[in-house]
Amino acid sequence: MASFEVALNEFLFIFTLLFVGNSTYLDDHGPPPQKVLPFPSQVVYNRVGKCGSRTVVLLLRILSEKHGFNLVTSDIHNKTRLTKNEQMELIKNISTAEQPYLFTRHVHFLNFSRFGGDQPVYINIIRDPVNRFLSNYFFRRFGDWRGEQNHMIRTPSMRQEERYLDINVCILENYPECSNPRLFYIIPYFCGQHPRCREPGEWALERAKLNVNENFLLVGILEELEDVLLLLERFLPHYFKDVLSIYKNPEHRKLGNLTVTVKKTVPSPEAIQILYQRMRYEYEFYYYVKEQFHLLKRKFGLKSHIRKPRPRPEFFIPSPLETEEPIDDEEEDDEKWLEDIYKRNKSSLHNTAALTTEMRRQ
Ligand SMILES: *[C@@H]1O[C@H](CO)[C@@H](O)[C@H](O)[C@H]1NC(C)=O
Ligand SMILES: *[C@@H]1O[C@H](CO)[C@@H](O)[C@H](O)[C@H]1NC(C)=O
Ligand SMILES: *[C@@H]1O[C@H](CO)[C@@H](O)[C@H](O)[C@H]1NC(C)=O
Ligand SMILES: *[C@@H]1O[C@H](CO)[C@@H](O)[C@H](O)[C@H]1NC(C)=O
Ligand SMILES: *[C@@H]1O[C@H](CO)[C@@H](O)[C@H](O)[C@H]1NC(C)=O
Repeated sequence: MASFEVALNEFLFIFTLLFVGNSTYLDDHGPPPQKVLPFPSQVVYNRVGKCGSRTVVLLLRILSEKHGFNLVTSDIHNKTRLTKNEQMELIKNISTAEQPYLFTRHVHFLNFSRFGGDQPVYINIIRDPVNRFLSNYFFRRFGDWRGEQNHMIRTPSMRQEERYLDINVCILENYPECSNPRLFYIIPYFCGQHPRCREPGEWALERAKLNVNENFLLVGILEELEDVLLLLERFLPHYFKDVLSIYKNPEHRKLGNLTVTVKKTVPSPEAIQILYQRMRYEYEFYYYVKEQFHLLKRKFGLKSHIRKPRPRPEFFIPSPLETEEPIDDEEEDDEKWLEDIYKRNKSSLHNTAALTTEMRRQ
């Protein structure tokens, strides 16, 4: 752990030198020592459900071919917590992957060093907790741009009462789906596999924060996705070089088809207040991460995204981000869409990558 921190600090420091030209290091200390930039060759993106990871995984498919790293995904989409043996097995398995690799799965933080492995560099993206919750609530019931009918066929076991359950009833009448511990969702991804990591409270919150500092190279904020991609490109160029131009490429956008077709209703102000209250630890974590993210942005010369305060929370502003990432813990396997798109559009994906390379050359 300690050596990881040293390496990480060195790594960030060298980047600071490279990207923030007016460092005073030279004046204070003489020429910087000659050091080889540590190249992280083991990266884990333990992606949080409904926080844009669909988009990022699609980008990673393109990037892995473009830059020649090993993208290791998992067929398991609904199991975020593991027994000790399962952790050991998975860590062993990931560690033997050909490097450089990027492993991604919906899984709570895995402590590689606990099992004698090298701790990889972690990255992740989170979003406003209430928006994440609502996005998941309506996705579970009505699906996304692939259509409501389609979704109903894919989820035949959901009872009508559940599918059409009014969100206000769910919240105000304390249905499990709208109460703790189910609302304690983001923190465990950062806290880890310890059972207390799933108990809403200070212990898990503090451990999650500590872990963000010690093991995560970057935790981005979905609301500022372009800046997240820009920082990833700077921190992990061997994986993410050109990601922003690929993301902004209209061809690529078409592929993701991010049209909002989900039936959504805004909960009453009273219900939203209750959600805020139930999710106070999640918010404390979210604001902590957001602040860290903004500090990092400033350090690398990016302006923080300052929005004028709005009179009320801006739920359901139709934006492409609203339909991101269908998968949730305890959910059906639903990432087949990605495989399907990828298979169907393999050639156009290649074209997008080629096009982007071409654009960069000019
Ligand atoms: C380990 O990796 C292999 C191949 O990469 C895969 O087939 C297998 O399912 C993995 N096992 C576990 C426990 O993840
Ligand atoms: C990971 O495991 C090591 C060794 O057991 C321990 O010192 C450390 O606190 C653990 N970190 C987390 C975040 O669980
Ligand atoms: C995939 O590619 C085919 C043929 O190039 C095209 O007709 C189709 O619209 C594409 N699908 C998406 C989702 O872009
Ligand atoms: C994108 O979604 C729209 C509306 O939901 C649909 O009409 C269109 O066919 C979709 N395009 C692709 C390429 O999937
Ligand atoms: C996860 O999904 C698989 C099939 O997609 C299913 O068999 C299994 O029961 C699910 N596990 C959990 C914990 O929901």
